[in-house]
Amino acid sequence: MRSHYCTQVSEKNIGEVVEVCGWCNNSRDHGGVIFIDLRDKSGLVQLVCDPADSTEAHKIANRVRDEFVLKAKGKVRARGEGLENPNLKTGKIEIVVDELIVENVSEPVPFVIGDNSVGEDVRLKYRYLDLRNKKSYETFKLRSKATIAARNLLDSRDFLEVETPILTKSTPEGARDYLVPSRVHNGEFFALPQSPQLFKQLLMCSGFDRYFQIAKCFRDEDLRADRQPEFTQIDLEMSFCTQDDVIEVTEALIKEMFKACGHEVQTPFQRLKYKDAMETYGSDKPDLRYDLPLIDVIDIFSRSTNGIFSGIAKDRKNNRIKALKVPNGDNIFSKRQMKGFEDYVRKFGAAGLGYFQMKEDGLKGPLTKFFSQEDLDEIIKVSELKVGDVIFFGAGEKKIVLDYMGRFRIYLAELMDIIPKDRFEFLWVVDFDMFEVDGGEVKALHHPFTMPRDLNAPVDEMESIAYDIVLNGVELGGGSIRIHKKEIQEKVFELLGISEEEANEKFEFLLDALKFGAPPHGGLAIGLDRLIMLLTNSASIRDVIAFPKTQRAQCLLTSAPSAVDNTQLRDLGIRLRETVKA
Ligand code: AMO
Repeated sequence: MRSHYCTQVSEKNIGEVVEVCGWCNNSRDHGGVIFIDLRDKSGLVQLVCDPADSTEAHKIANRVRDEFVLKAKGKVRARGEGLENPNLKTGKIEIVVDELIVENVSEPVPFVIGDNSVGEDVRLKYRYLDLRNKKSYETFKLRSKATIAARNLLDSRDFLEVETPILTKSTPEGARDYLVPSRVHNGEFFALPQSPQLFKQLLMCSGFDRYFQIAKCFRDEDLRADRQPEFTQIDLEMSFCTQDDVIEVTEALIKEMFKACGHEVQTPFQRLKYKDAMETYGSDKPDLRYDLPLIDVIDIFSRSTNGIFSGIAKDRKNNRIKALKVPNGDNIFSKRQMKGFEDYVRKFGAAGLGYFQMKEDGLKGPLTKFFSQEDLDEIIKVSELKVGDVIFFGAGEKKIVLDYMGRFRIYLAELMDIIPKDRFEFLWVVDFDMFEVDGGEVKALHHPFTMPRDLNAPVDEMESIAYDIVLNGVELGGGSIRIHKKEIQEKVFELLGISEEEANEKFEFLLDALKFGAPPHGGLAIGLDRLIMLLTNSASIRDVIAFPKTQRAQCLLTSAPSAVDNTQLRDLGIRLRETVKA
């Protein structure tokens, strides 16, 4: 229907007749001449409907309202002196309309197209209108380009794209399952996959050697700015591979995806051991666009005359005393702000937050009296303090201290505005612990199919061959070398407290497959939505998903989830409890 998209019309076309289609972005009547900004996916172009050129087109233009769907034909001309619009790509020209067709009318829309200040609930209810603007279109164009680049790269590396089932059995990635009741087998349920993890391992057992999938995953978990109940992974798996092989392919993949979106990424990415990431940044996904490392001061504090510190310092295995230096903090923060920091860390379980200020004549602060001059000098030395610096410290149980000091690091960086927004800082976190031991409970830190480095190591010290890829402090993806031997898998289930019965009930098919010549294999999955969110500098994962769910896991557009009628429930053999119905 068109000869050009709106912004394809340029000064080169002056004098030519063009045909354009789109929506009325707005219209103005200037002394009898009607100007319409016509919008399509490419942007805007100005239409001029002058009764002197076409009375018919002018008559039609008179009844055009915002969001009417139009087709216009006319001659391109240069805009008059002083009427050019430097903010528009087509700001130097306009189309003098000769023929105007209203392809469709529109009722007044609930919000102005492209107005992001409108509440998100309204925008999600009318998501198709929310998407009807150039910025959204550009976001999804990048998403499409990145996805195609990923497909091409993996295809060029001999990976086979295979679809795995959506109606399946529970896959343990640590979240709750979405369940689908079976009509044919009343009382029985499918689970939607939390990831294609087990199927991709089975494909390795089939000898497919290299698999990938742009896979939909479903997790019923608490939602955050970077989490959705339904999301997409670029999922891959390789046989006869080492961790380095998976890392190399992933780096090539990321490089290609970023290149397709106009960004050069340097590889290889740096690597950090999980333990070092936790000790130095209090996080397994540190943002390395800024420094602010946590400094270990437990030795120095063990010599303090303060019983609390020296007591904490006695148990080096389970406790930590960590310092965080804020360069020039004394001049940046007021006394009130410093007090506020303590309130901040208390929210995450801190008993308090001590600090020293580096003055001309040495360290100052209420706690200095508990330290010898030598130890104060040692603190200055290990943290390389300069006059004006402030050093905060947290002491207590390891897990709690690392967590709140890690959060405090991010909080300070944001407050000091030292995070470069235009940088992509990739990082591999490697050598994860195999298990997380919480009280008496042993949980898999990744998932139970991850290969331990040494199965004979003590449970709380066992490392796994697992790796995460982190971008700007966000976990972008994760993977591992898998267990390919039945005995090891059974032993890991046992350590996780999964009984033989339960293991057989849930994973018999996997344990079976491991009996019949499973090759060594490993892989990884990247969160595509998260990657696009970071790539487009979007504030929320919802901005890069065409039809996202709210933070409360609802689709406001279709009003899902919704009640179903009794006949459907009866077919499924389901009766709702009264409380649920109410
Ligand atoms: P994992 O559970 O770490 O690993 O998931 C991989 C990546 O998927 C993304 N992701 C999410 N994105 C949006 N919303 C969510 N709710 C969500 N949950 C996860 C993250 C995450 O890093 N099967 C393993 C991979 C493997 O071992 O090969 C797995 O799913 O970016």
